[in-house]
Amino acid sequence: MSAPRRCPVISFDHNSQTHADDTVGSYRAVRTSTPVAWTTAHEGYWVLSDYLSVFDAARDDETFSSRRLPHGGEGLAVVIPKTPMHRHIPIELDPPEFRTFRKIVNRITAPAAVERMREMIDNYTTWFIDQVIESGECDFVDVIGVPAIVTVDWLGLDAEDWKRYADLHRTTLSGVPGSPAFRQAVEVELPELSERMRRTIAARRAEPADDVITYLVQQEIDGRPITDEEVFAITELLVAGGTGTTASLVSQTLVWLYQHQDVRRTLIDHPEKLERAIEEFLRYFAPTQALARTVVQDVDFHGCPMQTGDRVLLAWASANRDESVFENADEIDIERWPNRHTSFGVGVHRCAGSHLGRAMSHALISQILERMPDYSVDLEALRRYPQQGTNVGFQSIPARFTPGPRRLPADA
Ligand code: HEM
Repeated sequence: MSAPRRCPVISFDHNSQTHADDTVGSYRAVRTSTPVAWTTAHEGYWVLSDYLSVFDAARDDETFSSRRLPHGGEGLAVVIPKTPMHRHIPIELDPPEFRTFRKIVNRITAPAAVERMREMIDNYTTWFIDQVIESGECDFVDVIGVPAIVTVDWLGLDAEDWKRYADLHRTTLSGVPGSPAFRQAVEVELPELSERMRRTIAARRAEPADDVITYLVQQEIDGRPITDEEVFAITELLVAGGTGTTASLVSQTLVWLYQHQDVRRTLIDHPEKLERAIEEFLRYFAPTQALARTVVQDVDFHGCPMQTGDRVLLAWASANRDESVFENADEIDIERWPNRHTSFGVGVHRCAGSHLGRAMSHALISQILERMPDYSVDLEALRRYPQQGTNVGFQSIPARFTPGPRRLPADA
């Protein structure tokens, strides 16, 4: 008997220029006509674009695996096409193996742990804004380095390397494969920064410090000591998760608030509304637009015949615009509640860093609104990441504002 045909077939590529030019319209077109469909781009993958199919697949890890399998080439399993990166833990594991590792990560990312990081987050935010506040102009992308430096410092890596880590992860996830910048990232930066991480891991084994890497090297996995390679895989994922996503959320929010000054005024006058507003910005902007799984057992999913080995794209960004779940889904309502967006994912792999991401976004947006309340953005000069398929965001956001005083001593 021949294998069932994959259908319906659509013309779609989340990494194409057409998609990058209008991600919302591109997803709307497939979601409203064929919410589960097969595209032949990148050697073929299923595109899940309505809320229900994304939700169902994300919660069914017996069918939709996050593991590194040979299908779809080599590299990070949760993106299409796979990008050259070392294995990430726990995002590339399935239950039950996944659980022990996730518990280890949960302890350092739980609300109480993030509470203890608040002072560091606030200090870095103040410092980054201090660097530009007297001049009256900046590129917001530089100010938005806060999530990267917080993550790198919290882990115990050299804080001075924050920009290199941030650039590396942005390029491997949003750059154009084969371009000079992509090659430099994969061939030079990745090995060099990996080597630095490995050296730090070995150093913390020899001499403990007060940081996340020290905590990680002391863990046990089912009665045996965790290996350096496992610590490396967790650290790499925390760097990848911590650097780009929050920066993307904040950058898109700042541009939008410049274009919607009434909402900006409301948030300046009512800072207590920011927490709920951040959930809505998360829904609307979906910093991580879509992630992938691999089918590990033949299944009839939402009427479509999926076969073992098929790659599947779960479009969080599109699920967030599903009108059957979110009224006026294409509008931002900062009071929207409840707000069951999928921007942190769904199911067992739901973002481990969500509390940290929220805390860093809150610190940055609130301090920018407080210290640069009249900022304007040069919309003509905005530059987006080359590809918008996995992570969306800006490479440059030139801004002007009324200068103000520094808060920290000049030599801080
Ligand atoms: C606005 C900020 C953020 C967004 C939008 C975001 C988005 C996501 C998404 C969509 C997933 C699900 C992955 C999947 O289903 O395959 C995820 C997982 C993860 N994120 Fe985040 N993330 C953010 C911030 C952070 C931060 C700050 C960290 C840590 C420093 C972090 C660490 C992780 C980790 C470790 C996982 C894997 C969890 C697992 O596999 O169990 N994220 N994130």
